[in-house]
Amino acid sequence: SDGVPLVAKGRLTTCTHLPYPPFQFERDGEVVGFDVALIDRVAKNLGVEQHIVDTPFENFKTGAFLNSGQCDLAAAGMTITDERRKNVDFSIPYFDATQALLATADSEVTTLAEVRSGKKRLGAQSGTTGESHAQEQGFDPVAFESADAVLNGLRTRQVDAVVIDYPVVQGWLKDPANARTFRLGRSIDTGERYGFSVKKGNDKLRAAIDQVIEESRADGGYERLHREWIGP
Ligand code: ARG
Repeated sequence: SDGVPLVAKGRLTTCTHLPYPPFQFERDGEVVGFDVALIDRVAKNLGVEQHIVDTPFENFKTGAFLNSGQCDLAAAGMTITDERRKNVDFSIPYFDATQALLATADSEVTTLAEVRSGKKRLGAQSGTTGESHAQEQGFDPVAFESADAVLNGLRTRQVDAVVIDYPVVQGWLKDPANARTFRLGRSIDTGERYGFSVKKGNDKLRAAIDQVIEESRADGGYERLHREWIGP
């Protein structure tokens, strides 16, 4: 085809960490979401199928799964950071995000300052920017392995509040049961931008991804997918 090197013939293998709705999650036994749809377009351009592999989130920091040839790229609602850039190469940004404080409905905290003064217990997904933001603010958050575990920790009151990506919270709160159980606190404007990552030096695949991000922004495809998966 166009000479983009792939770890397996005929396949664009994407590593992710499930679930991370609306970016990647399982529906009727299939992994779907905003990231999945964008990368499907990359696969289509390369004339191959996208194959999705669920991997531990730690992998995303070190790039181990890319270096070992397990995956061609990572799509995981992942924020571009300088630290991560040491180990992987990122596409151009494809999504702007902030953090949100989500609390149990009866806990009455809406800010990290109130979490601190109320001596409330804080949680986050381990290895995420939400966790590092909390740590930078002097907290020692309870670490949960996945976004689902974060929500469960809150539901079962292992913690009173969590710091997690705002768009994920937005999706959760569309469910009326969640809207009753949880309270959305202040959004924390960390100015994050998501990127897809590839093995260091895989410039051809990175360029193919950048091209899809740019073209879909120009031809309305991005907006359509945004409306479909994230909302207006
Ligand atoms: N955006 C945050 C970060 O990059 C959270 C990503 C979590 N992704 C996931 N698939 N659970 O650290």
